[in-house]
Amino acid sequence: MSNNTLTITHDRSGKTYQVPIENGTIRAMDLRMIKTSPEDFGVMSYDPAFLNTASCQSAITYIDGDKGILRYRGYPIEQLAEKCTFLEVAYLVLFGELPTDTELKEWTDAITHHTMLHENTKKFLEGFRHDAHPMGIFVSTVAALSTVYPDARNVLDPEVRKLQIYRLIGKVPTISAYCYRHSLGHPYVYPDNDLSYTENFMNMLWKMVEPKYQANSVLARALDILFILHADHEQNCSTNVMRAVGSSQADPFLATAAAATALSGPLHGGANEEVLKMLDEIGSKDRVPAYIDHIKAGHGKLMGFGHRIYKNYDPRARIIKWAADQVFRVTGTSSKLEIALELERIALKDEYFIKRKLYPNVDFYSGIIYQAMGFSPDMFTVLFAIPRTVGWLAQWQEMLTDPEQKIARPRQIYIGHDLRDFVPIEKR
Ligand SMILES: CC(C)(COP(=O)(O)OP(=O)(O)OC[C@H]1O[C@@H](n2cnc3c(N)ncnc32)[C@H](O)[C@@H]1OP(=O)(O)O)[C@@H](O)C(=O)NCCC(=O)NCCS
Repeated sequence: MSNNTLTITHDRSGKTYQVPIENGTIRAMDLRMIKTSPEDFGVMSYDPAFLNTASCQSAITYIDGDKGILRYRGYPIEQLAEKCTFLEVAYLVLFGELPTDTELKEWTDAITHHTMLHENTKKFLEGFRHDAHPMGIFVSTVAALSTVYPDARNVLDPEVRKLQIYRLIGKVPTISAYCYRHSLGHPYVYPDNDLSYTENFMNMLWKMVEPKYQANSVLARALDILFILHADHEQNCSTNVMRAVGSSQADPFLATAAAATALSGPLHGGANEEVLKMLDEIGSKDRVPAYIDHIKAGHGKLMGFGHRIYKNYDPRARIIKWAADQVFRVTGTSSKLEIALELERIALKDEYFIKRKLYPNVDFYSGIIYQAMGFSPDMFTVLFAIPRTVGWLAQWQEMLTDPEQKIARPRQIYIGHDLRDFVPIEKR
C-alpha cells in the first residue's frame, strides 16, 4: 500500500476506499465513490468559508502563514520590495519571470499608453454625488469600461486578454485619481507619460496649476513599495471572486469590478479605513489600555490585527513599518502613529492576543501612511485595489488557461423543508 493514500472505511457498509493524497491534498471528487448503493450520491465535503479547501492549483503566490513567508513566483516579498519597481513586480506576477531590460521597457511603454480614459467615462464619473464613497465610484467605473471595450468579451483569445491587462493596469490609477478629484470638486488631470506609474498617479491626484507635477521621490517610492506589497495574496476573498466570476467567462472589466466589490468590505480591503476610524475613536495614547479591555470584553475587534492565514506575523507589516518611517521623515509624525504604536506594544504583550496569535496585519500601518500622504480614509481601499488588479488579472489568466477549471459552482447541504403542499393564502 502506498504511503500517499488515505484509507477510509465507511462504517455503515464496512467498505474500504483508498484515496490518493497529492500535495497534501485529497480530491473532494474522490469522496463521491463512498456510497451505500449505486443510487447514492456519495460523500461530499462541507467547508463553509473554505477554511480547508484548495479551489485551484496556482504558481503565482506562496504564503506560509505560520512562518510569515510571502513570495511572488518564488521571490521573497522583502527582496522584491527592496529592489524592484511596482511595474517590474506586476510583470513578474502576471507572466512568471522578472522582465529583461527590453521586456520592462516594452511593458512600461504598453501600460503608459493605456492610462487615458474615454471622455465618456469621465462624464459617467461626473454623475456621482460629490460625497459618493470612492470605492463605489471605482467599482462602477471599472464595470463601465466593459461597455467601452466590447472586444474584451473574447476572453479565450490570449492577445485579447493581454490587451485588457494593459488597459486595466493602465487605467485603474486614472480612475482612482478621478474618484478622488471628484470628491474634492477639482478638475480631472490627464496622465503624464514622462512619469513613472506611481509618480503619474500622484500627478493625477495632486497636480493643481503648476505646469509640470514634481512628485516627492520618497513618497513616490513608499507608494510603489505599498503597491508591491499589495499586488497579490493568493486565494483571498476578492481573488476568489475574480476567479469565480471569471469562470463564467464574464469579461475582465466586470470580473475586476466584482473582485473590487469584495475588497470593499471591512473584513478585507476596508480594514485600513476601519483602523483609522478606530484610532480616531481611541483619541489619545493614554486611552489605549481601556480600549484594549473593551475589545477583550467582546466589543468588536482590534482593526488591523489578526489574519486568516498569518498566525505568526504578516511579513508585509514589517516592510510597511519601515516605509512608514520614511514617509514620516517627510511629512512629520502624527498622533495616530503614536496611538498605533502604543496599541501594538500593549496588544503584543497581552495574553488575549498572544493566545489567539493576533498580530498587526498589512492594514494596521498602511492607513496611517496613506493619511500622512494626504489621502482621506475613504480612498484607502481604492489604493489597495490599484495594485491588487495585477494579482486579480494574473489569477484570472491562470484560471482561464487551467484545463482543470470549469465554471465555479459549489454544492450545498439542503437543510430546508421536505416536500410540502401549497397552502392557499386564506389558510396560511
Ligand atoms: C482578519 C480576520 C477576519 C481573520 O479572521 P479568522 O481567521 O476567521 O479568525 P477568527 O475570527 O476565527 O478569530 C479567532 C479568535 O480571535 C479573535 N479575533 C480575531 N481577530 C481579532 C481582532 N482583530 N481583535 C480581537 N479579537 C480578534 C476572535 O474573536 C476569535 O476569538 P475566540 O476564539 O475567543 O472566539 C480577523 O482577524 C479580523 O476580523 N480582523 C480585523 C479586521 C482586519 O484587520 N482585517 C484585515 C485582514 S488583512
